[in-house]
Amino acid sequence: MVVSNSFKVKNICCIGAGYVGGPTMAVIAENCPEIKVNVIDISKDRITRWNHDDLTKLPVYEPGLNEIISKIRNKNLFFTFDIENSIREADLIFIAVNTPTKNEGFGSGFASDLTWVELCARQIAEFAEGHTIVVEKSTVPVKTARVIQTLLDSKNQRNVIKQNKTFSVLSSPEFLAEGSAINDLKNPDRILIGGDDQLGIDILKNIYKRWIPEDKILVTNLWSSELSKLVANAFLAQRISSINSISALCEVTGAKINEISKSIGSDRRIGDKFLKPGPGFGGSCFQKDILSLVYLCRYYGLNKVADYWEQIISLNNWQRSRVSKLIVEKLFNTVNLKKIVILGFSYKSNTNDTRESAAIYICKDLMANGAKLLIHDPKVNSAQIEKDLCKKESSNVDLDNNGCWTLIKDIQLSANKSDAIVILTEWDIYKKLNWISIASLMRKPSWIFDTRSVVDLEAIKNIDINYWGIGQGIDL
Ligand code: UDX
Ligand code: UDX
Repeated sequence: MVVSNSFKVKNICCIGAGYVGGPTMAVIAENCPEIKVNVIDISKDRITRWNHDDLTKLPVYEPGLNEIISKIRNKNLFFTFDIENSIREADLIFIAVNTPTKNEGFGSGFASDLTWVELCARQIAEFAEGHTIVVEKSTVPVKTARVIQTLLDSKNQRNVIKQNKTFSVLSSPEFLAEGSAINDLKNPDRILIGGDDQLGIDILKNIYKRWIPEDKILVTNLWSSELSKLVANAFLAQRISSINSISALCEVTGAKINEISKSIGSDRRIGDKFLKPGPGFGGSCFQKDILSLVYLCRYYGLNKVADYWEQIISLNNWQRSRVSKLIVEKLFNTVNLKKIVILGFSYKSNTNDTRESAAIYICKDLMANGAKLLIHDPKVNSAQIEKDLCKKESSNVDLDNNGCWTLIKDIQLSANKSDAIVILTEWDIYKKLNWISIASLMRKPSWIFDTRSVVDLEAIKNIDINYWGIGQGIDL
């Protein structure tokens, strides 16, 4: 089939209605009102929730997302079960499905599982008609575009009259961070398009150009584009592990990590972003992408390089467990039957996502040591916590056995007779707590463990409560 310069995109389809696919398509549809955007997903539940009248029930929470959805849903943005027709009528298809770390078989624990990407390619090969531009949005290992192209071009697909179908595969990884997804999509630092089909590149570029200045759209070859995403995430995670490693050194030397972050961040060569210490990074990407990078390096025999990047993960695991251990130590080496209030369960603020959240690991450690946890989070529900902790919610932690948890709404009430408050996510509301009245209800000696540096130290100066802050050289 001959594809000419007059090729116009009228229909876009996105496979995968997750944290990446949903918000990304919402912003594309908002900026391209004449293009119909269909978002499909194998999970019927996800699609149903995207179509919910009550916008608080959408599967993804992102500031600014509800406003876009209420404006354009069912105008030119559709969340639909009709996989076949959505693929058939699309001129441009984004693949935005998950690529989790394999947990069995070859490469287990490191390699990305491309089962779903392959499934998408097979579905596209089967149902697409005419010329279709296929864009990898999912983060994938280098050379995945070749796999997709091979599957699309293979001759043995069902119902395929090959002469009528042509495909062009591009890579355009998404760099949005959750919690600021809409802003990141509207004002990205850069957009990456990798490929060798100039016409396809121009068509995709013209879509992005509707709202993104052209000088921010970088064009590279396919493999640079695929690898850039893994490398960007590895570099970001590396900064967090670096600052977290120094937080531990601060605690034993009397230095203060936030002063160090400020002082090194003022050096423009270093920059001030991603220097916040915490309980260890979480989210669906950092760990998975570094493991994928490590696997890739080992595959190519670059063992030293693999070992170097693997240390980022090792430090992150250590950071989580050192937080759990020091809580137990400060509480006289036992948390058995002690009530501990956990503030924050999502892996960062402004998202309901809990994937790889440090809270999961720390809560499991504390429960394994017998603690009774009262967990608070503004956006995460008990069903999710139950899944993450692999333990049913307790209806009354006072009556339940040790090593239990419940989700709470009222922090103040729950602080009653508790031994410690552990802040694990930097939600704004935790910055404005009334520590005088919270401390007055707690069992003495009581503790605040602040892994996100959210507590105003002036506000607790004269209160009868012990404070441990990440990277703070001294106990107040
Ligand atoms: C995540 C990462 O953020 C991204 O970098 C990675 O490359 C892909 O996984 P995200 O949108 O956060 O993306 O994943 P998730 O919320 O799990 O959404 C993926 C969606 O794809 C799910 O809703 C899943 O049901 C859907 N899916 C999966 C399909 O529609 N078809 C499939 O074959 C497999
Ligand atoms: C990340 C990348 O930022 C994004 O570009 C990519 O597309 C997906 O992966 P995300 O995981 O959504 O985005 O959030 P991010 O803001 O990067 O935070 C990841 C983790 O690092 C969180 O647990 C966060 O709390 C932690 N973090 C971040 C720190 O501990 N300190 C920091 O200074 C920054």
